[in-house]
Amino acid sequence: MARKKIGLIGAGNIGGELARLCANEQLGDVWLFDIAAKENFAKGKALDLEQNSSVLGYDANIRGTSNWADLEGSDVLIITAGIPRKPGQSRDDLVATNLPIIRNVAENAKKHCPGAFAIVISNPLDAMVYEYKRVTGCPKGKVVGMAGVLDSARFQLFLAREAGVSIKDVRAMVLGGHGDDMVPVLSMTTINGIPASTLIAKDKLTAIVDRTRKGGGEIVGLMGTSAYYAPASSAVAMAEAYLLDQKRLLACAAYLDGEYGYKDLFIGVPAVIGASGVEKIIELALTDEEKGMLEKSAKSVQAVVDVCKKS
Ligand SMILES: NC(=O)c1ccc[n+]([C@@H]2O[C@H](COP(=O)([O-])OP(=O)(O)OC[C@H]3O[C@@H](n4cnc5c(N)ncnc54)[C@H](O)[C@@H]3O)[C@@H](O)[C@H]2O)c1
Repeated sequence: MARKKIGLIGAGNIGGELARLCANEQLGDVWLFDIAAKENFAKGKALDLEQNSSVLGYDANIRGTSNWADLEGSDVLIITAGIPRKPGQSRDDLVATNLPIIRNVAENAKKHCPGAFAIVISNPLDAMVYEYKRVTGCPKGKVVGMAGVLDSARFQLFLAREAGVSIKDVRAMVLGGHGDDMVPVLSMTTINGIPASTLIAKDKLTAIVDRTRKGGGEIVGLMGTSAYYAPASSAVAMAEAYLLDQKRLLACAAYLDGEYGYKDLFIGVPAVIGASGVEKIIELALTDEEKGMLEKSAKSVQAVVDVCKKS
């Protein structure tokens, strides 16, 4: 059986880490794509990662390119094309720059990679994944946004540290849009089945929810640019679920067609990812407070989508 083909659109910080993880986990051959002005940069990164294979022992081919024709036949596209935040910026501040970029990527993906499962990472996430689907016209199960896995990972880390337990035993999900209104679902957060609220005091939980919501900004403030290790791992978990038909239940920005009371909108919900893409959206019995937070978050996402629709 031929190796799977993975196209990484954007060879920057997240793109490079995605390539490293995809190769190291033997998910398939990797094409690192970037704009013509950065083709050599993409090729250099690819060559460095291929040389790494002789040390780490993976067989994947890793190539750099700025030619969409090289991406034909990709099984998966992971899209990070665009600019990241700088300190003080919100994700929505990126619309003006990243909207034409995602449109360009979507037009090329439609032409060259019509069968690929697309995972969008570029911000503002929920609006960019909406735009990708609108331009490509791809089926709703074939495109998804990565945010919930990352936001949930941040939430789980802070909970584990506060409770003094292993990260392996914390189960939690963050739903809604990938912005400051995101919804950490406290009612279903457990430490190996034990409600987190029985092990962590209320004021600490409130502080953890707040830190999670600002989790991306905390890193931008420290580094001057966006996080890339955990975002890359999160997207690779989603790609792996698709390529290996794992049926993983992950929080991701999926296209809603009435679920949770929303239509024609991407926001973070629990979804099962397997060989058909987004195979199922799980509707949780949220508390009234959580439903209210989801409503607020959905409104914020819709406002950005409306800006995109008018542009
Ligand atoms: N969804 C999330 O949870 C999450 C987390 C972190 C970062 N992000 C977002 O991911 C994006 C990428 O972040 P990064 O740190 O890798 O940025 P980066 O600047 O390191 O890399 C982005 C790359 O995209 C390339 N690019 C620009 N236009 C392109 C086009 N038309 N086609 C192909 N490539 C193009 C750039 O040349 C650059 O190399 C940003 O928008 C950032 O805000 C999202």
